[in-house]
Amino acid sequence: MHAKLITFEGIDGSGKTTVCKKVYRELRKKIRIVFVTEPTKTKLGEMVRDTMNKNVSPFTHALLFMADHANLVEKIRKYLENGTNVICDRYNDSSYAYQAAELKKVLSKHNIDSLDYLMNIQEPFTIKPDLTLLFVIKPETAMKRISFRKKTKFEKAGFLGDVQNVYLKLAAKEKRYKKIDANRSVDEIVNECIRKIEDTVAGKK
Ligand code: ADP
Ligand code: TYD
Repeated sequence: MHAKLITFEGIDGSGKTTVCKKVYRELRKKIRIVFVTEPTKTKLGEMVRDTMNKNVSPFTHALLFMADHANLVEKIRKYLENGTNVICDRYNDSSYAYQAAELKKVLSKHNIDSLDYLMNIQEPFTIKPDLTLLFVIKPETAMKRISFRKKTKFEKAGFLGDVQNVYLKLAAKEKRYKKIDANRSVDEIVNECIRKIEDTVAGKK
């Protein structure tokens, strides 16, 4: 059986990081698996985070996210070739959802669809996940959960609603997405994610 790439996606505050860390701690007892994140924990990833609240062009920001993604993909490719499964806390669906929402207005002036634009750029270098667990939640609930954190430019209910709509549009097109009701308790969500990942790893899907 081939090693699998499993990604966790959803808007800020949907609970991805909390859940996927627990899922990883359970799964590593049973299977060969590593845990990575996007933005990455490298210099490039730091640069991406650093520009988050700075006044940079949204195109600069989008291209930085993609540069970080391209580099991570090469690492993931090696893990998969090695028979090691990979869990990723965010992956390029984040750039499709967030940057498509962010660039929609400016690109529409050029008659370009922002989602097609981002997907076309990444197509030659990315790897499609085998399973994408998409955490779905009301943006207002997600915002309440992160009310104690310093906000980034993306963390506004209206914008996160637009981002979630792009995610849902993507999820309607491909079977690899499984929608996860993120309103439940952490334990319930962890158990559901583990079941879905184990099915994918076993080739059941
Ligand atoms: P994300 O990675 O999607 O931004 P986090 O995992 O960082 O989300 O969670 C954001 C906040 O919400 C954290 O304080 C976390 O403890 C809390 N949280 C996560 N999952 C749940 C849940 N299922 N129910 C209630 N609170 C949660
Ligand atoms: P992250 O630290 O994972 O946020 P959170 O834990 O709150 O979900 O990601 C940082 C922010 O960067 C988050 O708002 C989502 C955004 N982002 C993009 O806009 N494009 C991308 O390609 C990625 C990976 C993240």
